[in-house]
Amino acid sequence: MPHMSPRPLRPVLASLLAAAFAAAPAGAAGLQPTGQFSVPAAAYVATPPMGWNPWNAFRTEVTEAKILAVADTLKQSGLADAGYRYVDIDDGWWLRRRADGRIEVRTSMFPSAAMADGQTSLRPLVDRLHALDLKAGLYTDIGRNACSQAWDAHSPNLPVGSVAEREIGSLEFQEQDMRLFFGEWNIDLLKVDACGLADFGPAKAAVKAGQFRALAPLMVRAHPERSDEGKVEGLYASLAKAIATVRPLGDYVLSICTWGEASVADWGRRQGNAWRTSADISATWASMLRNFDSAEQRALYAGPGHWNDPDMLEIGNGEFDAAHLTQARAHLSLWAMLSAPLILGADLTRMPQELIDIARNADVVAVDQDPAGNQAITLMRDGDTQVLAKTLAEPGAVAVALVNRGERPAGVSLPLARLRLGAQAGVTVRDLWTHQSRALAGDAIAMTLAPHETALLLVKGQAAPAQYLDRMPASVNVAEDGRAALGRTLPAGWVPARVDAAPSGAALTVGGKRHQDGIGVLDNSRLEVRLDQPYSRFLATAGVLDESRAAARRHAISYRVYGDGKLLLEKRSAAPVQLNVPVAGVRILELVAADSQKAAGPVALAWADARLEH
Ligand code: GLA
Repeated sequence: MPHMSPRPLRPVLASLLAAAFAAAPAGAAGLQPTGQFSVPAAAYVATPPMGWNPWNAFRTEVTEAKILAVADTLKQSGLADAGYRYVDIDDGWWLRRRADGRIEVRTSMFPSAAMADGQTSLRPLVDRLHALDLKAGLYTDIGRNACSQAWDAHSPNLPVGSVAEREIGSLEFQEQDMRLFFGEWNIDLLKVDACGLADFGPAKAAVKAGQFRALAPLMVRAHPERSDEGKVEGLYASLAKAIATVRPLGDYVLSICTWGEASVADWGRRQGNAWRTSADISATWASMLRNFDSAEQRALYAGPGHWNDPDMLEIGNGEFDAAHLTQARAHLSLWAMLSAPLILGADLTRMPQELIDIARNADVVAVDQDPAGNQAITLMRDGDTQVLAKTLAEPGAVAVALVNRGERPAGVSLPLARLRLGAQAGVTVRDLWTHQSRALAGDAIAMTLAPHETALLLVKGQAAPAQYLDRMPASVNVAEDGRAALGRTLPAGWVPARVDAAPSGAALTVGGKRHQDGIGVLDNSRLEVRLDQPYSRFLATAGVLDESRAAARRHAISYRVYGDGKLLLEKRSAAPVQLNVPVAGVRILELVAADSQKAAGPVALAWADARLEH
C-alpha cells in the first residue's frame, strides 16, 4: 500500500484560508474543477485532539480545584505523555454578561479568576495548565443561551442576573468573546454548543415566563428539513472568522457541538476541526454503539484537521468501569479506528489503574493518531460482528478491528484478500491489546470474540500495486455532495457520499454487478482526490446504482475526470461506463458526475472499484 503521509499542512494554509469562510459551493458552480484539495476548514489539527472534559463526571459542578486535580493526574499517570493534553472546562464556568459585554467568571468555583481590580479572568488558570505543558479548552454556545440553561434548570451554577445578563452565549458577541477567550485568556480549544439555537423558541415555558429572550429555533432536533442549515453554518463560519482574527492560524481547535443536527456532519469540516455526529453519549454499551455508528459511515468527511466526533469517552464510567474492562478496551479501539477525538470524561483522580492503563495504551493511541488520518471503513458486517480496516501511513500497514457488538461469543473470519495488500505471503498480525503476534488461519484472520470484545490488530504486509479510493478516505474530499441540486433534505439515514455503499446504505450494485469497493455518491457531485504518490492510471466503473428508480437509470450522466483542473476524460452515458485514464504527474484528481435532467428524487451513482495504479 503506498505511503500516504499527509502533505505538510502549514504551507497549504494560505491557499485554504481564502476558501475558509467562503459560502459553500452549490449546484453547477460546485461541479467546476478547482485543481485543489479544498477542505476549507483550518487544517492544522493534524491528528485528532486528545484530552479530558469534565462534563460526564461533574456536569456544571466544574470547579477549578477539580480541574487542577485532574490536570495533575494527567501528568502523574502518564496520560499526558500518552497524548491527553487538552484540559477542557465545560458548561457552568460563567456568572453573567456585564453591560459592557464582558463575561464574568463564577469566582466561587474559579477563585483564581478574581483579579485585584475587580475584573475576572481565566488567564491564571490557563497559565497554570500551560505551565504543566497542558492545553486549555473552554465552552460557549453559538446562540444567546447555553445548554445548562435549557436542560439543567436546577443547577446552582446557572448564569445570574437579568435576562440580558444571563445571555452568556456568543450570538451578537462573537468578536468580543473570541478576543476575551483566545486573546486575553489564551485558551487553545473552544467547544461551541448550540442549545441557544434549538431550545429557546417562543413556545418554551421558561421563555413564556420571561426568563429568556425568544429565538425562533434555527435547529429542530431530528428534523433536518425544519432546521436552517445555512444559517447555522453561517454562524459557525463567522465565529471561526472571529477566532482567526485574534489567533494566528495553526494553534487552536474549534469543536462544533450541534449533536449531528442541522446536517453538521455534511458541512462541519468547512468551519471547524471536529463536529459532533450524534446526541450526548451516556455510559452504556448501547449508547456507545449508537454514537460509534453515527460517525462510522462518514469516513469521506474526515482527515487531518477535520474529524468526525462521536462524543467523549466514557471509560471509567458506568458500563465502561473497572468491572467492564472488555467494554472499555472496545470503546477505545472503536474511537481509535474512527480517528475520533479522544477526550476522557471520567473523574481521573479516582480512575483505577487498569483503566488508566487501557487509556494510555500507546499502540492503540497510535492508531487514532496515525498521521495519514484515514478513518476506518467497515469491510464486513454480519449480525453482531463487524470488521473495520484503517489504512495507516506506513506502507502496507493496516489496523484491523474485529468487533463483537453482541451479548454472546462470536467467531469472526476476515479473508486476507479483503485487506488488498500486495501479497498474502509474509503478512504479520500483532494484537495491540495483548501485545502478542497472532497466527493466521490459512489465508484469513480468524478469532472467537467474547461478548462486547473488540480485537485490535496491526496487520503488516506488502504495499499493493493499486490503491483503492475507499481505502484512502482522508485523501478524498466531498467537494460538492449533490444535495444543493436536489433542493431538499435527504431521507433519514442517507449520507451524500460514502465508501463501499450507496448514499442510502445499500450495496454498490451497478448493472446487476455488486462491487465490494467503491464510492457511492449523488448525481451532481464532485470529489477531489489528493494523490500523495505518483500513479500512472485511474480506473473505475461509473454508473447509476441499480437501486435508483428506472427513470433515473435512463438519464444520461456525464462522468468527468479532471487532473489538476484540466479535463482528462468525459463520458456521457445512461449505461455504466468503464474508465481508464492516464494520470502520470497529476496531484489532484477530480471526479464529477453531472446530470442536467431534473430527477424526481435523489439519483445515486457509484465510482465502483475506483483505484489508482502505480
Ligand atoms: C450539551 C453537550 C454536552 C455538554 C452539555 C453542557 O448537551 O452536547 O457535551 O457540553 O451540553 O450543558
